[in-house]
Amino acid sequence: MNLKGKSFLKLLDFTPEEIGGLIELAADLKAKKKAGVPHRLCEGKNVALIFEKTSTRTRCAFEVAAYDLGMGVTYLDPTGSQMGKKESIADTARVLGRMYEGIEYRGFAQKTVEELAKYAGVPVWNGLTDEFHPTQILTDFLTIQGHFGHLKGINFVYLGDARFNMGNSLMVGSAKMGLNFTACAPKEFFPSQQLIGECQAIAAETGATLRFTEDVAEAVKGADVLYTDIWVSMGEPAEAWGERIRALLPYQVNAKVMKMAGPDAVFMHCLPSFHDLNTTIGKQVGEQYGLDGLEVTNDVFESEQSIVFEEAENRMHTIKAVMAATLGGV
Ligand code: CP
Ligand code: NVA
Repeated sequence: MNLKGKSFLKLLDFTPEEIGGLIELAADLKAKKKAGVPHRLCEGKNVALIFEKTSTRTRCAFEVAAYDLGMGVTYLDPTGSQMGKKESIADTARVLGRMYEGIEYRGFAQKTVEELAKYAGVPVWNGLTDEFHPTQILTDFLTIQGHFGHLKGINFVYLGDARFNMGNSLMVGSAKMGLNFTACAPKEFFPSQQLIGECQAIAAETGATLRFTEDVAEAVKGADVLYTDIWVSMGEPAEAWGERIRALLPYQVNAKVMKMAGPDAVFMHCLPSFHDLNTTIGKQVGEQYGLDGLEVTNDVFESEQSIVFEEAENRMHTIKAVMAATLGGV
């Protein structure tokens, strides 16, 4: 695997061998971190982290990973840069590319991160756009591999809004790595026909299967992984909650659904999650609609079958692998 100088914008740009290589590298860096073995593979370099949307995991993962690799970090928050407001993406990219060896970007349009990469002259890493969240998929797959010992043939079921960043990226990742991917949602929440077509062509090569169904019982039978995400994503209007709850409540991951999948199935979620009323939005929406959990119920979230915090920790190890590989540290 030689990814030196390459940007990490979406999984469609990478071969299964490269994705597998990044997961292996992440597992190795995780073992080193746990054993207290230093791995300052990018000593003396600096990275810029641009966030046009909020974050806990992605920001902290990039920062800690950068420090562990021996790098300096600048964080630019949603109000902290001129980008897009007083300075074009292309100009910002060319300025930052002169000062930093790598740039992370979280924002709205995929075309913004693609444009940054076109002009920066250094690797650009996608920390989430409306369309894709590729570093999250590396995490999810490292976690699945750690739990089940393999990725090929895993029965992976995504319930909920499958046409946004998480559904799209999990479908692409599954197609690339040979998982059996099911999107379970009302059909207007399926990924676009164009992306499904691209993934079907990839799946034909890798042995992955793709299935789209509105039927929960059919979807979760024999599942290894049940995955969901929040129903209203960052950047979407709060007014969307009513319509989403009406459409997606039948696709909530609750004890009945976990039981249909069986005792060996695991529950995963990219987080943050509305599984109780202990957040401002969770409480407001929950009270308005008489629900104490939204996309997942608290009993499932807190159950033995839930591996969401291992998954969250793996953000750091996988993002570290992406930076080390693309900056030429390995
Ligand atoms: N999963 C994830 O990207 O979390 P943050 O929004 O906290 O970064
Ligand atoms: N779909 C969610 C993912 C958060 C990690 C969002 O975009 O808000």
